[in-house]
Amino acid sequence: MLSLPEPLPLYSSRNQFVELIANERLTTGAEIGVQRGIFSEILLRNWTNCAEYHVIDLWAHQKHYLDGANVRDNLQETTYQMARQRLKRFEKVLHYHRNFSNLAVVELKDDSLDFIYIDARHDYVGVWEDLKLYWPKLKRNGIFAGHDYLDLSEVKARAPKEDWSVDAYGVRRTDNKAVKSAVNEFAKERSLQVLQTSQEKYPSWYLRKYL
Ligand SMILES: C[S@@+](CC[C@H](N)C(=O)[O-])C[C@H]1O[C@@H](n2cnc3c(N)ncnc32)[C@H](O)[C@@H]1O
Repeated sequence: MLSLPEPLPLYSSRNQFVELIANERLTTGAEIGVQRGIFSEILLRNWTNCAEYHVIDLWAHQKHYLDGANVRDNLQETTYQMARQRLKRFEKVLHYHRNFSNLAVVELKDDSLDFIYIDARHDYVGVWEDLKLYWPKLKRNGIFAGHDYLDLSEVKARAPKEDWSVDAYGVRRTDNKAVKSAVNEFAKERSLQVLQTSQEKYPSWYLRKYL
């Protein structure tokens, strides 16, 4: 008889995702948008049976990317070296993809990952693209998640200098959509329930891929 996986637990912080990963004995994952490797380290230091973790980041300045992470190229190189240093002890399981997320995706096999965390571009179009491209890489019952589950007005209230309204082509949105709307619309199309971490200024979203 087929049995459904357990419903996802409610978490206050993304640092608890590793509990889920351990309970479900997950072994493969990817993070899209890695920067200094801070979240990768949080996961990997407790993910003892991780066999494969793909870290995907351009680590380069982008033309239309209004984000605190979009620093000059020489600082990007330093950031990349910091990530490599921070994650050195996990080298055996790590696969680096220094490229645009929409190009790096072809290096991953379909149905191969148990956990995917999306945290690269935060404009609606960019997030939507990453959701669509990385979804087929996730195994059935896998966990799809990401950072900054917020729309534009919420970002403005928390971080007035951030502006996620402009996409990679330089087109500015006139509605309020950013990460939250992209995730909600993506989930709605697939009748999936989205959960969010409850105690973070920049919440993470998460859902399970049932089919
Ligand atoms: C917010 S930081 C990631 C933080 C990291 N996930 C953490 O929590 O420690 C976003 C990163 O995404 C990368 N990024 C943005 N757009 C990208 C794209 N289109 N392709 C690949 N990487 C991208 C940036 O270079 C930046 O390092």
